[in-house]
Amino acid sequence: MDERELLRTVPLFSELSDADIASLGQLAAPRRYPKDTVVFFENEEGDFFFMILQGRIKVTILGDDGREIILSVLGPGDFFGEMALLDNEPRSATAIAVEDSELLSLHRTDFQSVIADNRSIQAALIKILTARLRRANHQISTLALLDVYGRVARVILDMAREEGRRLKDGRIAFRRPTHQEIANRIGTTRETVTRMIKDLERQALVRMEGREIVLQPGFEKVFD
Ligand code: CMP
Repeated sequence: MDERELLRTVPLFSELSDADIASLGQLAAPRRYPKDTVVFFENEEGDFFFMILQGRIKVTILGDDGREIILSVLGPGDFFGEMALLDNEPRSATAIAVEDSELLSLHRTDFQSVIADNRSIQAALIKILTARLRRANHQISTLALLDVYGRVARVILDMAREEGRRLKDGRIAFRRPTHQEIANRIGTTRETVTRMIKDLERQALVRMEGREIVLQPGFEKVFD
């Protein structure tokens, strides 16, 4: 796929005319970030907006004690880095490539003029930011209202729905996250997650199949 076709896959730009996509393609610069490299740190000044063409970017907040809380893991078609450009505040979180990633970056002034010139982008941006707020609210309720067992189950269900695929028999399979990754999404320890997952396996609610976790029939009923 060439850059223009790739830009079309970014939902924020799906309504743009061919001419607008072409001029956006001229303004956007491709950037590669190998696995485990930092795109930017929380609290830095930020001048770029990023779109993800390939790979996955973890949005995370690091505590002083080295613990981290993962706010989101974004993938192809998603964007990030808009907040610092919209409110002129520092970066609200750190962005790290968790896979080899290909991004397109847009400088602040270009981002601002693209938004100012396109009503369809303004509407799409508001819609996507609203969806992020809904997701964040869901995350807050998970953290505040569920015990740790419920949180592990809830995060597994959310990940399965966000990135999994339905098998023919109706079960959902998805990439097996590390126990540390699950722990960092819900503010607990890796050991606790390991214990909870063993328990879910014992109850035949999840099954490890190769590099995937498969939610067994009943999982959604019990934890939804
Ligand atoms: P910015 O503050 O510039 O830098 C960090 C970026 O992470 C931020 O812009 C958003 O693009 C993204 N981000 C922050 N919080 C969330 C969240 N809760 N869900 C998804 N993305 C987020």
